[in-house]
Amino acid sequence: MLSRKLQDALNEQINREFFSEYFYLSMSAYLESVELEGFANYFNVQAQEEHFHAMKMFNFVHDKGGRVLLKALKEPRADFKSVIKLIEEALDHERYITKSINELMDIAIKENDHSVKSFLEWYVDEQVEEEATMSKLIAKLKLINGEGLGLLTLDNELLTRTFTPEA
Ligand code: FEO
Repeated sequence: MLSRKLQDALNEQINREFFSEYFYLSMSAYLESVELEGFANYFNVQAQEEHFHAMKMFNFVHDKGGRVLLKALKEPRADFKSVIKLIEEALDHERYITKSINELMDIAIKENDHSVKSFLEWYVDEQVEEEATMSKLIAKLKLINGEGLGLLTLDNELLTRTFTPEA
């Protein structure tokens, strides 16, 4: 059984994960509009990962006998100044998600709910990877100045990213 406070906090996090999916889909749509198909693919796959994060939590709340309550999603931004700025925004968003996962973990620790703590460990680890991946992409873009042949080569590389759901 989940406490009311933890259930509410998990429902808020489910909303944030679905918003992340929506936000990255909006980024993917923008990148398609500027003919960066590889980057568009990268964020399309990222959106699928966020859907997985949301559904993993959705199913956990049910497994714990809780009630999932879905909330409205904010309208995501549709336009970005450059591909570097877009990925910097994605990194800022991931940092915000990391903070929210940590706050959720703080509640689970305070309530001494071991199953929620154990469940959230996966998200804590995942956030390290999420932030690192975005940071590396920004570093690569800065190396090539975010333009020219370097940008096209990187765009080509990103076409190969696929989503592999966990077993
Ligand atoms: Fe679900 Fe990118 O954090």
